Amino acid sequence: MGKIKIAPSILSADFARLGEETRAIDQAGADYIHIDVMDGHFVPNITIGPGVVKALRPHTRKVLDVHLMIDPVDSYLEAFAEAGSDIITVHAEAGYHLDRTLQVIRSLGRRAGLALNPATPPEAVMYLLDRVDLILVMSVNPGFGGQKFIPAQLDKLRRLRALIGDRPIELQVDGGVTPDNAGAIAAAGARVLVAGSAIFSSGDYALGIAALRAAAEVVLTG
Ligand code: DX5
Ligand code: ZN
Repeated sequence: MGKIKIAPSILSADFARLGEETRAIDQAGADYIHIDVMDGHFVPNITIGPGVVKALRPHTRKVLDVHLMIDPVDSYLEAFAEAGSDIITVHAEAGYHLDRTLQVIRSLGRRAGLALNPATPPEAVMYLLDRVDLILVMSVNPGFGGQKFIPAQLDKLRRLRALIGDRPIELQVDGGVTPDNAGAIAAAGARVLVAGSAIFSSGDYALGIAALRAAAEVVLTG
């Protein structure tokens, strides 16, 4: 029990009812609430800003896992921290001074996450391992929900698991996660699974979350 965390991405929720949707995935058993922030520059889509994170904060006591797909990012960290984010994840490909950016997130009292695009090698985290609480492997090119999982990212997960060793760093995967590939993803070392369409198109959010968790945990038992 509790080996795998499920982080539904509200990118696939009904944006006109975000508070309600957030409460629904909380009650359906979500561990983290994954919030995808896009700027139309780092990625070709625009979603939500710190005002929406702040508005959602009273709707759940679960971890708000905020994935920033924005560049520049430094000037927005304080706003996302004040909005009530628990985890703030930035991209290795955004900005020039990642070491400093990660330190700023921690100095704001938040957990620091580092995301890698599909083309970025696992070694990008090598000299940042003491600065991060979470590493996010993008298993699609960021920008949109509903894309197909890129199988080459399984190898990246295995390499990152080895690089992490016994440090208290969570390994997260994001993009195209379904009950069909959740087992392989967990076997490769991921312990936090982000899923948008697999959960929100399932009709029954509790069943969608449980199906992902079961498919991932089955490979870890025994
Ligand atoms: C993509 C986002 C993901 C996305 C996942 O840029 O970071 O969180 O919403 O959606 P699915 O699970 O539909 O691939
Ligand atoms: Zn995401």
